[in-house]
Amino acid sequence: MTIPLVRTGLNVERLHGAISLVTVSTPDSLAPEVVEPLMAGRFGRPYLYEESCDSTQQLLRDDLAEGAVAVCDVQTHGRGRQGRDWEAPPGTAILCSVVLQIPPGRRAPELSLVAGLAVAEAVEHALGLAVQIKWPNDVMVNRRKVAGILAESSGERAVLGIGLNVNQKREDLPQDARVAPASLYTTDGVVRHRAPILVDLLQELEHACKRWREEGLDGLYHSLGARDFLRGRRIAVDGRTGTGIGIDREGRLAVEVDGRRELVENGEVSFER
Ligand code: BTN
Repeated sequence: MTIPLVRTGLNVERLHGAISLVTVSTPDSLAPEVVEPLMAGRFGRPYLYEESCDSTQQLLRDDLAEGAVAVCDVQTHGRGRQGRDWEAPPGTAILCSVVLQIPPGRRAPELSLVAGLAVAEAVEHALGLAVQIKWPNDVMVNRRKVAGILAESSGERAVLGIGLNVNQKREDLPQDARVAPASLYTTDGVVRHRAPILVDLLQELEHACKRWREEGLDGLYHSLGARDFLRGRRIAVDGRTGTGIGIDREGRLAVEVDGRRELVENGEVSFER
């Protein structure tokens, strides 16, 4: 029996109740005519799409309001955190940037966690698996990084970049990454349409930002804590080693080092596998 899922364009073939084959029957595209009809919320308007660009972080003009989004299929100079590159073969990933307003009284570094939560929820919906957030900005499945977040702010305005690995095969992923990478495809072998995932992600981001504005990180604390990848792990940060206690209510990482509780405001964390 073939059950066509019209929204995703996927055909799922079931054999004795189990999914045996999934085929993509319509082209996977992030073009406006495919994405815009799926949108329900405020985020994603305007929707600026380029097939190829340097970096989506550079496509959003200063006069665009919160919720404006830039998307492309391939970046020639995709940027990661700490001056690293971010690469993905054409048409395999979700590469997007969103204009955000940092609400009064909220701290800019919290934004990576707010966004991480939104991405984690969208990935959970797509995969049906538990997804975790590795402080401050990595989204993890099965101890591998499926998405990264780059928050660049100036005053109250931020441009939030999200790179989510969707259909890359193992050999398409960077071999020398600091944190072992994965895509949704390498996780469960399903080829997916990116448009519905992007739309869901923008909706989750809108909800998370609203909550952040109204209640601060406190309003998201439970959801973040439940997905805290570093909690209880042996980690190294800024030359110190210890055990992750968890993300605190101000968005810092609490670490136990030699029996003392220390707070990390920013930095790179490595963990023992
Ligand atoms: C990280 O280092 O983990 C952050 C990666 C962020 C990559 C995304 S892809 C879309 C946007 N445009 C960029 O150039 N970078 C971000």
